[in-house]
This record gives sequence, C-alpha cells and structure tokens, in this order.
Amino acid sequence: MHILCAVLLLPFVILTHSSSALNKVWEEWQIEHRKVYDNKTEMEFRRAVWEKNMMLVLRHNQEASAGNHSFTMGLNHLSDMTAEEVNEKLKAGGVG
Ligand SMILES: *[C@@H]1O[C@H](CO)[C@@H](O)[C@H](O)[C@H]1NC(C)=O
Ligand SMILES: *[C@@H]1O[C@H](CO)[C@@H](O)[C@H](O)[C@H]1NC(C)=O
Repeated sequence: MHILCAVLLLPFVILTHSSSALNKVWEEWQIEHRKVYDNKTEMEFRRAVWEKNMMLVLRHNQEASAGNHSFTMGLNHLSDMTAEEVNEKLKAGGVG
C-alpha cells in the first residue's frame, strides 16, 4: 500500500522538488484565471490549497493512465478553493 502510494505520488514529488517548476505553474494558473489575492496570508493559504488540489489531480490522472478512471482531470478556476468552499458556491447557485 505504501509502495503504491509512493508510485502514485511520484509526479507530485518531482514537481515539489523542483519548486521553480511548481512556482511557474502556480503563476501561470493565477494569470490564466485572473486571480488577485488581498494579502500575503491569503495568497499563501490559496497556494497551499491549490497545491493540495494539484496533487489530487496528478494522482487521479496517474490512476487514469492505469485504466482506473475513464477521464482525466485538470486544474480549473476552482483549484484554489477547498471542497467546502466549492460546495458552498454550488449551493449558492453560481460556479463560474
Ligand atoms: C487578508 O485577506 C483576507 C481575505 O480577504 C482577510 O480575511 C484577512 O483578514 C486579511 N488579513 C490581513 C492581515 O489583512
Ligand atoms: C486500478 O485498477 C486495477 C485493476 O482493476 C486495480 O488492481 C488497482 O488496485 C486499481 N488502483 C487504484 C489506485 O485504484
């Protein structure tokens, strides 16, 4: 089980060990989705959430390439939000 997890997390490990590559993805994602954060605290929090979501996407896609899922995932404009926040947004009736 631990070996399986290690294998699935490999792309994430490579990315985080090359933090300049991850920073570039983060910056490009912010530009693409026109994200502006109020302050450093907020930005660091969003970056942490984004990284976590990014890891889930990578792991999902790794599983998809092994045939476990019929679709792959990508980062989108909700990638800096927690699952709770996305649910709130859905209930409020407006995603996007
Ligand atoms: C930073 O921005 C967030 C979100 O708008 C806000 O809740 C928080 O109070 C701000 N913190 C500071 C130190 O200004
Ligand atoms: C992916 O599917 C294979 C074959 O059905 C299965 O053996 C494996 O445990 C699955 N892996 C994950 C991470 O779900």
